[in-house]
Amino acid sequence: TMLPRCAFSVCHVFVLVLCLSSAEDIDWTKNDHSSFYYGTFPAGFSWGAGSSAYQTEGAWDKDGKGLSIWDVFSHKKGKIQQNDTGDSSCEGYHKVKDDVSLMKELKLNHYRFSISWPRLIPTGIKSDHINEKGIQYYDGLIDQLLESKITPVVTLYHWDLPQVLQEKYGGWQNISLVNHFNEFANLCFERFGNRVKYWMTFNNPWSVAVEGYETGEHAPGLRLRGTGAYRAAHHIIKAHAKVWHTYDTQWRAKQKGLVGISLSGDWGEPVDMSNQKDIEAAERYVQFYLGWFATPIFHGDYPQVMKDFIGRKSVQQGLGTSRLPTFSTQEKSYIKGTCDFLGIGHFTTRYITQKNNPSGRSSSSSYFTDRDLAELVDPRWPDPGSEWLYSVPWGFRRLLNFVKIQYGNPMIYVTENGVSEKMLCTELCDDWRIQYYKDYINEMLKAIKDGVNVKGYTAWSLLDKFEWDEGYSERFGLYYVDFRNKNKPRYPKASVQFYKRVISSNGFPNQREVENWRRKAIETCSSSNQLLAAEEQRSTAANILRLIHDPLTSHMEMVTEIVVPTVCTLSILLSAVFLMFLLRRRN
Ligand code: BGC
Repeated sequence: TMLPRCAFSVCHVFVLVLCLSSAEDIDWTKNDHSSFYYGTFPAGFSWGAGSSAYQTEGAWDKDGKGLSIWDVFSHKKGKIQQNDTGDSSCEGYHKVKDDVSLMKELKLNHYRFSISWPRLIPTGIKSDHINEKGIQYYDGLIDQLLESKITPVVTLYHWDLPQVLQEKYGGWQNISLVNHFNEFANLCFERFGNRVKYWMTFNNPWSVAVEGYETGEHAPGLRLRGTGAYRAAHHIIKAHAKVWHTYDTQWRAKQKGLVGISLSGDWGEPVDMSNQKDIEAAERYVQFYLGWFATPIFHGDYPQVMKDFIGRKSVQQGLGTSRLPTFSTQEKSYIKGTCDFLGIGHFTTRYITQKNNPSGRSSSSSYFTDRDLAELVDPRWPDPGSEWLYSVPWGFRRLLNFVKIQYGNPMIYVTENGVSEKMLCTELCDDWRIQYYKDYINEMLKAIKDGVNVKGYTAWSLLDKFEWDEGYSERFGLYYVDFRNKNKPRYPKASVQFYKRVISSNGFPNQREVENWRRKAIETCSSSNQLLAAEEQRSTAANILRLIHDPLTSHMEMVTEIVVPTVCTLSILLSAVFLMFLLRRRN
C-alpha cells in the first residue's frame, strides 16, 4: 500500500466537501477537469503492463532460490491480511508461456517485471554463490518476450531483499548494501544486458523507506521512527547512483541501453488555492514524496524544504545534527544526473492543508510529522478498491507537469498506474477500472500536449497478485486470477478488451468509437463471467467431493502400502515351499 493507515485516519477526520471550480490556475491546468480530449499519442509511444517478482512468481523455495525479507515477513503471523503469503502466488515462475500469450493478446509493446535478487544470488552476496537456475528462468522469460516482439523493461529491486543481508547488516540501514546491490546489478547487466535495454534500479523507494523502516507495515517491518526512513533512502539513492555509473562506464558503449529509476508519487493539491500556507504545504507534500528521491538524482541534493524542516525540528528536539543525512560535495556531483529516464508510478491524489506539529524535546519525531501538513480527500472521489486509492485523474496531469518543470523535462516512462477492486467474488465486468484507465490515460495525453516528455505507459498490473500487506484481498489485474485453484487460471476482465483498443488505436479516436469499445467490453465480460462462475462452482464441488472421498482415499493407500507387499511376500514364500516340495518328490 502507498500510505500508512495512520495517515488515512487523519485524512478521514478532515474529509472536506470542497469547491473545485475555483481551483483553476496556471496555463496547463486551464482545461476543464472534466473535459475529455480525443486524440492520439505520438508515433512509437510504448504501451505495456507490469508485475513484480515477489508479487507474481511464487516458487519461493524452488531451484535454489534464497530467502527474501518478504518470504520471512509474510510467514510471520499477523503481518499480512489473512496471513497470505507469496509462496505460490500466480505461479508465474511456471507459467511464462501462458503469461506471454496474454501479453500478445493485449498487443503490448513492453512488459515490466522485476528480477528477484535472492533467486540469482541466494545470500545477496555475489562472491558466495550464483544460482544458474535463477539466471535460466529470466533468460527464458526475456527470450520469450523478444520472440513475441515485446520489449523487456526490467526492475532490479522491487522490494525483495535477500534475507541474509537483512540479518547480517540491517538491510538498507547499512551502507555496505550499496556495494552488494551494485554487484547484483552488474551481474544482471553482464548476463541479460545483451537483450535488455531498459533498466530500473529501484521501484518506489519511498515505500521501502517509509513502510519498511518507519511504520513497519512492510518487510523488514522495522519502526525506526524519524530516522530509519531517511537513512534507508540515503543508502538507496547512493546505490542507485553507483549502479548508474557502473552501467555508464562498463556497459553503455557496448549494450546501448538506458538506466533509470521508478519513483512513486501521489499528487498534492492545496485545499485553498488562495492560501499561501496551503500552497506551500502541498508543495512540501510532493517534495517529501517524489522530490525526496528525484531532487538528488536530478539536482544533486535533497529538496531545500526537506533540509529546512527536518533540520529545524531536529534542533528543536535537542539533536546535534539533522535526522536527514547529508551528501558530501563529491557525493552530490556523483549522484547528480544519474538518470537516463524517469519512471513514474502514480495512483492517486490528496488535498493538502498546513498543519503544525509540535516538535519540542519530548515530542516523538516521524517522517509524517516532519512535513507539517494534513491530507484530505474529497468524499465525491470514486474509491472502488484499496482504501488509499481515490480516482482523481486530473492529479496525474499536474504531477507530470511538475516533473517537467522541476527536473528539466526528462524522458518519462509511466511505470505504474491502475486501480484495484476489493471484491473476493467473481467479477470480470470491471467498468470502474475502464473508467479509471480511460480518464488517467487521457490526462497523460493532455500532459503530452502540455509538452511533458512521456514515452510510454505501463498498466499496473497484468495479473491479480500478492498485494504486500493486503495479501490477495486487493486485485489490480487486467486479468483475474483464481487463487483458490491450484493451477491459478487467468481470466480476462472487461478492462482487457478496453485497454487493447486503446493500444491498437494509440489513443482515443473519437467519442463514438470509445463508447463502443466500452459497451463491447462489458458485453463480452458478462459471458466470461458466467464461464468463470461455473468453473468456480465446479472446483468448489470437486473440493467437497475430495473431502467426502478422503476416507476412501486413505483406505486405498492402505491397500497399496500394506496389503500389496504382504500378499507379494506370502506368494513368494508359498512358491518357495511348493518348489521345495517338488524337488523333494523328484529326489
Ligand atoms: C507498488 C506495487 C503495488 C502497488 C499497489 C506500488 O507502489 O510498487 O508493487 O502493487 O503500489 O499497492
